[in-house]
Amino acid sequence: MNLGTHRITRGAVAVLAAAGLAVGATALPASAASTAITGGDADWGVKLSFRNYINGPIAHGTTTLTDGVTQNSDGTYNWPVVSGSYDSVTGDTTVAFGGKVAYDGHGGLLQLAIENVRVEISGGQGDLYADLTSKSLSSGEVEDFPDTNLADLDLGGGAPVLSGGTLTLAPVAATLTEEGAPAFAGFYTAGTALDPIGFSATVDGGPGSGPVPGGVSADQEIVAEVAGGPLTLSVAGDTVVLTGSAVSGAGLNQRASGELNTATVSDLRGTGAGWNLVGQVSDFAGATGSIAASNLGWTPSAAVVDDGLGVPGRVAPGAVVLPGQGLGSARTLAGSPAGSSAGTFTAGAGLELGVPADVAPGSYAATLTLTLS
Ligand code: HEM
Repeated sequence: MNLGTHRITRGAVAVLAAAGLAVGATALPASAASTAITGGDADWGVKLSFRNYINGPIAHGTTTLTDGVTQNSDGTYNWPVVSGSYDSVTGDTTVAFGGKVAYDGHGGLLQLAIENVRVEISGGQGDLYADLTSKSLSSGEVEDFPDTNLADLDLGGGAPVLSGGTLTLAPVAATLTEEGAPAFAGFYTAGTALDPIGFSATVDGGPGSGPVPGGVSADQEIVAEVAGGPLTLSVAGDTVVLTGSAVSGAGLNQRASGELNTATVSDLRGTGAGWNLVGQVSDFAGATGSIAASNLGWTPSAAVVDDGLGVPGRVAPGAVVLPGQGLGSARTLAGSPAGSSAGTFTAGAGLELGVPADVAPGSYAATLTLTLS
């Protein structure tokens, strides 16, 4: 956003104090953080012993895979992901699989089909749903088990991880529910382990699309209000999404990084009085906890914009501040010394957020305030 460029109209000192830029941010509401899942694939083999039973000498069965389901080299199935949604604030996720797996055995006495498989994660709990049809041993009729809560998923305190526009659920244990057991003609009881299930889903653009390191993201919605004056500041964008990944090794936490939107300082006062641009951030607030402001560090950079008039000012970036000793207090992003401060300058920073190991997955948002004086 361009906050305007102002000519000198009054004394420098009085104006300087009024030239602060307040950059406000609020945590994204859950609805704004929900994005569509548009594709991807999932691995789920139903149950290894069942596949062996179907292929073995008892059932003498066959397996038919349709509508995009394929068999992996280990015998499990790869399902296309066709739709779904992901909420980057709550972590709630729906991932719908296309395709169908149908079993036939015992000369047609066994007919079991599974389709419209769907993973639902809500409030940290995971469930597997599917439409099933299965021929009853007693009646000989094919029975429908629509939208059946087939299995409980053990997320183990984990959650899908969003990174680079891909939402990944590493394989998690699935256990058969009471509701799902009848489709297997009572041969399995509730609590029986099914095959683990995992997916890799493509997340559409939008607030939730930024990579989430270890399930954590930090979005900044920036709204700028500025008091007028000849020393001005503008910011090139209104959102910073920090992305990153877990860092392995003893004592290391997850790191999320990103780039501060470029700030432009114009000093048209003609006094050359010098200026200093500092930044400070609030604590990062999430749905289930927070990350201390001091965990955000930065590596400032600064440059002079050539005005073509041959009167170059000078600008120096602030010191590197490491996560842990970071922007909980005001830190210098860039400064220009008295006598060399006239002109236009840009300042930016590589941001790095140290995410403590005990922080719950989710989206975390903070307010970054840049102040020019
Ligand atoms: C003519 C009818 C059937 C006969 C004779 C039959 C026979 C058997 C036998 C002998 C086993 C034990 C296999 C083992 O322990 O290695 C078994 C297992 C099983 N049967 Fe059937 N079955 C019949 C129909 C069905 C039907 C209609 C279903 C419905 C899906 C079914 C589902 C299963 C399942 C889920 C197992 C356990 C497989 C495992 O995980 O080891 N069976 N069946």
